[in-house]
Amino acid sequence: MAGNRTFTMVKPDAMEAGNAGAIIKMIQEAGFKIVAMKMTKLSEERAGQFYAVHKERPFYKDLTAYMSSGPIIAMILEKNNAVEDFRKLIGATNPAEAEEGTIRKLFAKSIEANAIHGSDADETAAQEGNFFFAETERF
Ligand code: CMP
Repeated sequence: MAGNRTFTMVKPDAMEAGNAGAIIKMIQEAGFKIVAMKMTKLSEERAGQFYAVHKERPFYKDLTAYMSSGPIIAMILEKNNAVEDFRKLIGATNPAEAEEGTIRKLFAKSIEANAIHGSDADETAAQEGNFFFAETERF
């Protein structure tokens, strides 16, 4: 059965461009409830831990530098079928391939600076949420 929680980050490019509010509005209007939320800045080391699964990829070093270049907003979101529905809302990793009306189509600058993260599975959603939030920070 599909889980009902996912994890997201508004990434540094979208924060810098002043698009966090518009993105969070789209998320809420799509029916996701915000269970946890914080604005924070990752160190390059913490960004590397978060994206450890991509360690061998050629873009890993750039990705960790970019993800630690400015603040992000991390959130745990709740909705039926959360992971899959959220990935539909954000669109493809590469904004050039993202569908019209998706968050990445509207706000992403490039395949790397792609405005927003969304977990790819229920298990990673739980791990990623735990990476940022204590139990006392979830509502
Ligand atoms: P995200 O969905 O957060 O997961 C991994 C991130 O790596 C991805 O979004 C992009 O920011 C980045 N990424 C994925 N593929 C590439 C690529 N081919 N080149 C550069 N960055 C990438």
